[in-house]
This record gives sequence, C-alpha cells and structure tokens, in this order.
Amino acid sequence: MPANGGADGGGAGRGSFPAVRPRRLRRTAALRRLVAEVRVDPAQLVLPLFVREGLAAPRPVESLPGVLQHTRDSVRKAAAEAAAAGLGGVMLYGVPERRDPAGSAGADPDGVLNVAIADVRAEVGDDLVVMSDLCLDEFTSHGHCGLLAPGGDVDNDATLGAYAAMARAQAAAGADLLGASGMMDGQVGAVRAALDAAGHADTGVLAYACKYASAFYGPFRDAVESTLVGDRRTYQQDPANAVESLREVRLDVAEGADIVMVKPALPYLDVLAAVRAEVAVPVAAYQVSGEYAMVEAAAARGWIDRDAAIVESLTSIARAGADILLTYWALPAAHLLRR
Ligand code: PBG
Repeated sequence: MPANGGADGGGAGRGSFPAVRPRRLRRTAALRRLVAEVRVDPAQLVLPLFVREGLAAPRPVESLPGVLQHTRDSVRKAAAEAAAAGLGGVMLYGVPERRDPAGSAGADPDGVLNVAIADVRAEVGDDLVVMSDLCLDEFTSHGHCGLLAPGGDVDNDATLGAYAAMARAQAAAGADLLGASGMMDGQVGAVRAALDAAGHADTGVLAYACKYASAFYGPFRDAVESTLVGDRRTYQQDPANAVESLREVRLDVAEGADIVMVKPALPYLDVLAAVRAEVAVPVAAYQVSGEYAMVEAAAARGWIDRDAAIVESLTSIARAGADILLTYWALPAAHLLRR
C-alpha cells in the first residue's frame, strides 16, 4: 500500500509522492472559478425592506447596522435601487403607527404595508419581484402572528380568516408573491383559496414552510418595534426537529405553495438540503436578522472579515440547496458577487 493516495484508486504515486492532487484545481483564482460548483447570482437575492408609518426621514435600526426603517418615499427609492442592482426582488414589511389585538391594519387598504406595496409596484413595474410579509405580528398589539384565544394561545383557525383578508389586500395592492410566514396550520390553503375566490389567481404564495422558533430573529423585532408577549413555540418549529420540516413542506406544496422557504438559513442548512431533495418547487432560504447582526458586530470589532463572511455564508446557503436567498446584505452582496 502506498503511503498516500491509495484510497480512491488513482493515488499510487511514484515513490512517496501523491499522484492525485486536488490542489491542482485550487492553484489560481481562474482555476477555482472554472470548477466552482455553485455560483450565487444577484438575481437570486431578495432584499427585505421595512417601511415605517409616519416617519419624516429614514431611521437606522440600531441592532441591524446598515438597515433602515424607510419612509413612504424612501422605500420606493430603495426598491428602485434594488432593481438597478439586478436583485431578484424585495420583501416588504410594514411597521404601523398603531396596533390592535386583531392586527386590523394588515388588511386595511390604507395600512402602511398595503400602501407601500402599491407604491413600490408603481415605482418598479414588473422589473422586480415584489413580495410582502403576510403575517400579523407587525400589526398586533401583543406581537403574536395570529389572533389570541381567551386562554392566550394563538387561535389557529380564527387566524386563517385574518390572513385571507390580509392576502386579498396585498394582492389588490399589487404584490407578486405573498410571504405566508405565520406558521398556522392550513395557512397556505386558506390564502390560496381566498386569492382565487377574489380574482387573484396569478398572485403567488411563498410559504415560510419551515420556520423555526429562533433566537436569531431578535434584531428583526427591533426593526418592526414588536414587543412580543411570551414566545412563539406553540406555532414555530422546535430547533430539534428536521424530519418535521419535510412534513411541513409537503403540506404547503399540497396546499398550493409556489415557493417554499427555510428560515433561518445558516443554522438549518441540513434542513435546507433535505427540503431541496424533497420538493419540486423553488426553495428559498432566509438569512435572518441575527445572522446578519452577528457578522456585522464581529466585523465592527475587527474580529471577522465582513465581505468574505458575506460571500461565504451566501455561497454555503446556495450550496445547501437554496435557489432564492433573502438577505439584508443583498445590495453589498450583489456588488461583491460581481467582482
Ligand atoms: C414574521 C417574521 C419574522 C421574521 C420575518 N417574518 C419574525 C418572527 O417570526 O418572529 C424574522 C426575520 C428576521 O429575523 O430577519 N412576520
């Protein structure tokens, strides 16, 4: 047995030198580029944008350096910038001035998110995919993704009606894809039926099919000024479970999901790979606020190379199986990926 390289059959080298040398294909940047198995294209990237009702000027989100709460005007400009950068789309989130237990501003055509959808649509036409968050948590006073039953738990079936109303409003405002992110059972089917019945058969559903109860959403709550009472563990998934995600995606595809998403991304790459192997619809992954904040915080201290970490993390998410990547770095990443 030669000292080196025998295991894959081609390694019997002269003397003690290896005949098979994987390093040959890593020697220059040109060789590495030629053999790269995965490439992330800016057209796969989706930029989440926050629009805050009643703001006079864009406001930085402290825990998400570089991310803004937009005004009605500035969100249009941000969407135009995303289109000009060749991004695939934007995901819009509304931050209302007033909240109530039913989250009623979500279905109001004059609500902050629905107005922003119409504004952004008018700005970008069909050059950019306009997605909107179909969830109540930004609109409810208690911060949950649904209506509360008298005992305080989220009432699944009552919430479906609220999502249906919100979906009709978002489709009427002009969204291409509705990001059903509340993790209620049956939400995709309820939304699909409501859209079809209202003449919005062409509006798609991007199902947050596998959404974990994650600590990595922390900075997002800051961005939407949501103060959650309790936690979301009775409806978002337990981080211990991966097989359960296959059940979730099968259900969502059967209910009519056009795209399924895994969220967060980096801590759940195993789930992402399993989901990609399971379904025949595009798979998205959401690099969430905490994933972004960790790198930004470390980079600000000089502890990590920010640009390299951005490219590496997005490449890894694509390698695991994501066709579409939601990331707060979409604009700088588009620039970095073109280099
Ligand atoms: C729900 C929603 C959340 C995020 C996206 N959509 C919050 C949650 O489920 O708790 C989190 C995204 C992020 O952390 O970047 N509307």
